[in-house]
Amino acid sequence: MTQRPYVIDEMISAKAIAARVEALCREIHDEFVGTDKLIVVGLLRGSFVFIADLVRELDLPIEVDFLEASSYGNAQHSSREVRILKDLRGAIAGRDVLVVEDIVDTGHTLNHVMGLLRSRKPARLKSIALLNKPSRREVDFRADWIGFEIPDEFVVGYGIDYAQRNRNLPYIGKVRFTE
Ligand code: IMP
Repeated sequence: MTQRPYVIDEMISAKAIAARVEALCREIHDEFVGTDKLIVVGLLRGSFVFIADLVRELDLPIEVDFLEASSYGNAQHSSREVRILKDLRGAIAGRDVLVVEDIVDTGHTLNHVMGLLRSRKPARLKSIALLNKPSRREVDFRADWIGFEIPDEFVVGYGIDYAQRNRNLPYIGKVRFTE
């Protein structure tokens, strides 16, 4: 695939992300303290760095599971039709569930996933997204916790890709096309 040339400008530093993760984990801890049945569900693949940092900061007994829903492919537009490519390994009925997403953009992906998981009757179902682009929203959906609100920019890093690249950047950067 031919890529337009681009550079990446830092938008949110690794230090700022770490501080925000710590603060979010204090709130998540307060919400779930006392439960011994929390499952933290990462949405593949973009949340893999975020969930790794979150769970290591959470001093609670947890299980981790993953679910993959279709999203961008290599284009820069969200698919409206959300498909489940990989389902959870375990049952969630009666369990507390925290769904971890990288970005809420149009809202279709997380809205669909939350609806699906709700139908499986968990005791409690919450969601957290590292980034939120409210100006792009097409469905009425808000995550319970949000790391950062960002403008309508295409971002990469900290698990988030552009055509599968740049997931390993330790910070969030915005893609700026040079041609
Ligand atoms: P939504 O269904 O439109 O909310 O899309 C959510 C998914 O689109 C995210 O999980 C990302 O995989 C992808 N996405 C949205 N915005 C960006 C971006 O700026 N960079 C990379 N991926 C993005």
